[in-house]
Amino acid sequence: MSGREILDSRGNPTVEAAIYSDDIWEKAAVPSGASTGTHEALELRDGDPKRYAGLGVLKALRNIGEVIAPKLIGLDPRQQSSIDHAMIDLDGTPNKSRLGANATLAVSLAVSKLAARLEGKSLYDYLSNGNGRTLPVPAMNVINGGKHAGTGLKVQEFMVLPAGAKSFTEALRAGSEIYHTLKRVIESKHGRQAINVGDEGGFAPPLNRTLEALEVLSQAISEAGYSAGKDVFLGFDAASSEFCRNGTYEIDGKKLSPEELAEFYEQLAKSFPIRYIEDPFEQEDFEHTAQFTRKVGHWVQVVGDDIFVTNVSRLKKGIDAGAANALLLKVNQIGTLTEAVDAAKLALANHYRVVVSHRSGETEDTTISDLAVALNCGQIKAGAPCRGERIVKYNRLLDIEKELGTKAHFAGLNALQAS
Ligand code: PGA
Ligand code: ZN
Repeated sequence: MSGREILDSRGNPTVEAAIYSDDIWEKAAVPSGASTGTHEALELRDGDPKRYAGLGVLKALRNIGEVIAPKLIGLDPRQQSSIDHAMIDLDGTPNKSRLGANATLAVSLAVSKLAARLEGKSLYDYLSNGNGRTLPVPAMNVINGGKHAGTGLKVQEFMVLPAGAKSFTEALRAGSEIYHTLKRVIESKHGRQAINVGDEGGFAPPLNRTLEALEVLSQAISEAGYSAGKDVFLGFDAASSEFCRNGTYEIDGKKLSPEELAEFYEQLAKSFPIRYIEDPFEQEDFEHTAQFTRKVGHWVQVVGDDIFVTNVSRLKKGIDAGAANALLLKVNQIGTLTEAVDAAKLALANHYRVVVSHRSGETEDTTISDLAVALNCGQIKAGAPCRGERIVKYNRLLDIEKELGTKAHFAGLNALQAS
């Protein structure tokens, strides 16, 4: 077992682990967020200002080499749960702050890949014991705002969900065609300087209001020849902790109370075919999230990212409160594959939807594509159909759809039915 410091899509260091069994080896790399939830597991950074402005990950590598490896060497990689629990015990903290979730996750994901390889199976097939066959609807973030782009948009991500397609392949085609039409629409309105892309490959046009972004998106969908509300649906990640100041939300030139914000979202969801709203309220506000879910949850997915951080105890609290009706699943928020899958299982058992997600800082690792198929959860959020670190996830899903052949099932419209 060994660790390496590599770069992510923002050019910042991240951890890659390689695990060997005789002459076979597999590696996995860890992503990194920008608008991270307060309760995420710790991403261990060196803090040495002389290297990568403090963002180096040599301490995490040392933990892999000196603490994790001696405990795990000799174990069978097919024992994913025991391996992950051995790392959880070795760490001994509630948020992986001793070893670093970047150290544990790199090892955890590499273990799963090695095990699949030893079994001679594709990762999704191995992870699901042969039951993974649902290709997810991609939630494609085509307009970037918030912390992911330098625009006036407070909402961080505007997504298209081509759920009406017949297959994942066709959904990807729709997403790509809409993306390129959107580029033309933005260019004609705002000029060439407006078609640069943000961290997740979406455009970052000089828009200031949520409504404008949704309008431009709707125009692109129809000009691309698709019908919004039939072929393609809209979604957004408010990532609202980022624009919440002392319980007030500063958005679109206004200061809104949680009640006013809920009303604002509801009007948007009634004016556009929106089926996905992520983190509508700040990450500690289970109460307003629950109220909002009661109000719109029968037709809109209310997705919990920063509020749940892929953490079983936060999710349990949410389920008890009736907050949200979907879980955003990010493996690096919790630091092991086993714990992430536990969170997904808890969500699904309680009729919450699960959306497997990338981070804004990504690598060429495609584990999340296999995980989405293995969980049969029906949705993946992996950015715009642009930038290699995003495309590689979608291309992996094309491979899986092909490999499954007639067994493949595209989640389609059912995936967006809020439960
Ligand atoms: P992050 O953003 O990866 O920067 O946290 C993604 C999200 O908020 O969903
Ligand atoms: Zn989010």
